[in-house]
Amino acid sequence: MGETAKIVLGIESSCDETAVALVTADRRVLAERIASQEAEHAPYGGVVPEIAARAHAERLAPMIEAVMEDAGLSLDNVDAIAATAGPGLIGGVMVGLVSGKALAMASGKPLVAVNHLEGHALSPRLADSELGFPYLLLLVSGGHCQILAVEGVGTYRRLATTIDDALGEAFDKTAKILGLGYPGGPAVERLALEGDAKAVSLPRPLKGSKEPHFSFAGLKSAVLRAFESGEHERADIAASFQQAAIDCITDRLEKALREHGPLPALVVAGGVAANQSVRSALESLAASHGMRFVAPPLKLCTDNAAMIAWAGCERLEQEPDFAGDPLDLKARPRWPLDPQAEAVRGAGVKA
Ligand code: KG4
Ligand code: ZN
Repeated sequence: MGETAKIVLGIESSCDETAVALVTADRRVLAERIASQEAEHAPYGGVVPEIAARAHAERLAPMIEAVMEDAGLSLDNVDAIAATAGPGLIGGVMVGLVSGKALAMASGKPLVAVNHLEGHALSPRLADSELGFPYLLLLVSGGHCQILAVEGVGTYRRLATTIDDALGEAFDKTAKILGLGYPGGPAVERLALEGDAKAVSLPRPLKGSKEPHFSFAGLKSAVLRAFESGEHERADIAASFQQAAIDCITDRLEKALREHGPLPALVVAGGVAANQSVRSALESLAASHGMRFVAPPLKLCTDNAAMIAWAGCERLEQEPDFAGDPLDLKARPRWPLDPQAEAVRGAGVKA
């Protein structure tokens, strides 16, 4: 089986990680490189789109070459080229997509234009061969906070989204307020370990609400007020914030489960899925509903190219005669996973 499994080259460049990976349809990551732009963006306290696009453009070609070399393969051995085509920072997405198109054209192999969110949504299946459809997915990243029913490759039903900030964004803003720098999520998680989650009284926006969605803007403002009051230790604010965020997530998932019934598995994906407190809260919630809990390994949670290559593998598996996406396909700054989902109110909604 190992010899015949299809091989897909994946390219990711939608935010601040430049990443390339070679993945097989039987779940082996043959080679993988990832270059973080943390150092370039840190002075600005967040990702600067123009700097990101330039950094992707400089790094991507040598990284592709290096990954092919690491695996000892040439494009002849590859069955498809998968590249993120959105959503994300458009300059960066264009760099990766154009590179993917060029490789597809030069090699005659099909291009698979991958939705970055689909990469996150299917990534748990790369790590866990037992995870079948359907599953309930909490997708929590820097740009998104959604609950999806994943019914199959290409079939995603959005049950909830955020009406303002994404969860990762709330972690990042909290980090900024607390002076923890960028990227914020891991720093907040570390500091929270030293704090008391009950020390600071913070709101749980939309908890118990009739609508299914998330909101984190009010929580972020409350964190700012708590910090500016000068009455609290930073670690207590971090711990209280993290607990408030977790309470919001579990409340909204409970609501989704009440309304849509239990699914065989609860799955978490996206950068915030790297958070251990979030993971253990979800694990308990899944157990209380008799659901399996699946969380991909940490390096598959944050942005990476293995998940993009894997989404390509899934597409080839689903459509064995897939001839490739058109080479004039456009990069998309916004690209909802569920095109039927209604737009929600609120500013700053990403998809
Ligand atoms: O999926 P991802 O790498 O990029 C996007 O597609 O957005 O997610 C990045 C987000 C950032 O907001 C980052 O702060 C957050 O994931 N994050 C975390 C942790 N690690 C990354 N948030 C909380 N705890 C963590 N350990
Ligand atoms: Zn992501």
